[in-house]
Amino acid sequence: MNESRLAETSQAGHTTTESTIPGGNMSYKRVTLSQFLMEGQHRYGGSGTLTSLLTDIRTTCKMISHEVNRGAMAGNMGVAGTENVQGEEQKKLDVLANDIFLHMTAQSGNYAAMASEELEDVHVVHGSAGRYLLLFDPLDGSSNIDINIAVGSVFSILRLPDGASGETLESFLQPGVKQVAAGYAIYGSSTMLVLTTGHGVNGFTLDQNIGVFVLTHPNMRIPEDASEFAINASRARFWEPPVKRYIDECLAGAEGPRGRDFNMRWVAAMVAEVHRILCRGGVFMYPVDDKNTKQGGKLRLMYEANPMAFIVEQAGGRAITGQDRILDINPTGLHQRVGVILGSKNEVDRLERYHQDYEATAGKAEV
Ligand code: F6P
Repeated sequence: MNESRLAETSQAGHTTTESTIPGGNMSYKRVTLSQFLMEGQHRYGGSGTLTSLLTDIRTTCKMISHEVNRGAMAGNMGVAGTENVQGEEQKKLDVLANDIFLHMTAQSGNYAAMASEELEDVHVVHGSAGRYLLLFDPLDGSSNIDINIAVGSVFSILRLPDGASGETLESFLQPGVKQVAAGYAIYGSSTMLVLTTGHGVNGFTLDQNIGVFVLTHPNMRIPEDASEFAINASRARFWEPPVKRYIDECLAGAEGPRGRDFNMRWVAAMVAEVHRILCRGGVFMYPVDDKNTKQGGKLRLMYEANPMAFIVEQAGGRAITGQDRILDINPTGLHQRVGVILGSKNEVDRLERYHQDYEATAGKAEV
């Protein structure tokens, strides 16, 4: 009889036991999200509240994943016949995912209040003594829902400021650097939950058969250099000069100033773009352009840009508006929009430089 030889390995400080027998099935030895959170709680000396906050999110994302997967079979496709606060048409799954978030995360009493892309105002959790605030986009990329392409959920967790009441909008208006945790779930060819609590980024894949997230992508790092960019090129005529310069140089490829060919991708779901960048690098842009300047950009600061910026920075990348670090922005509104440029450090550095160059010359032109 063959004897299993076990090797202890450490993944981002998490002990797993692997078989040294080629093909040996030791999948039950994987680290689950619950074990990972408990281990983190012991290592960083937490009270257990953060574990509980993230456990609620985990269950929420599993439920939404289930509904997304059932798709048309459950009657989940199509429009809800309503509009959200931004005047965008809501899909049935937008509304369902929002309800699941509100219901599931209210149960534990950890959150004093919540804010969602789908709700105009702060949603107060009545009777809760919770000291945390939750912001979320329940279903990001919802134009992909009906066509079976990846969508996701994005969340950001803030502390309720000392002495503040969860009922006030002001409690939420904290810069992204104050986030306690952030993450996203991607409902793609597999469901994954990717999160940070400020100690790096870890990715967990949902084992659908047993309903458990397992650590499959420990300590995710974004390569500093990359040759892939994502931007909605149909807006090219509205782009500001620094963005146009960057894209033109990428498109010029090996014959241009960059001296190499670039690849382009556009999934139209920020979660999927950020996930790709975490896995193999690249840059994602939804910049302020001539058409969206008045609104401040397209993506929402509090529940899209901030959580993604936190994750990207924790994975070694950068996230800016063009001029400023996203995480340093002092918000003025729950649904505030902002320009977003994020991803591989050296590419974002270059885009920042192009913005500075442009402002320096534009400034001179005004004198
Ligand atoms: O509203 C957010 C979002 O769906 C992002 O997830 C995505 O990157 C973007 O909008 C898609 O925008 P567009 O419709 O311009 O392709």
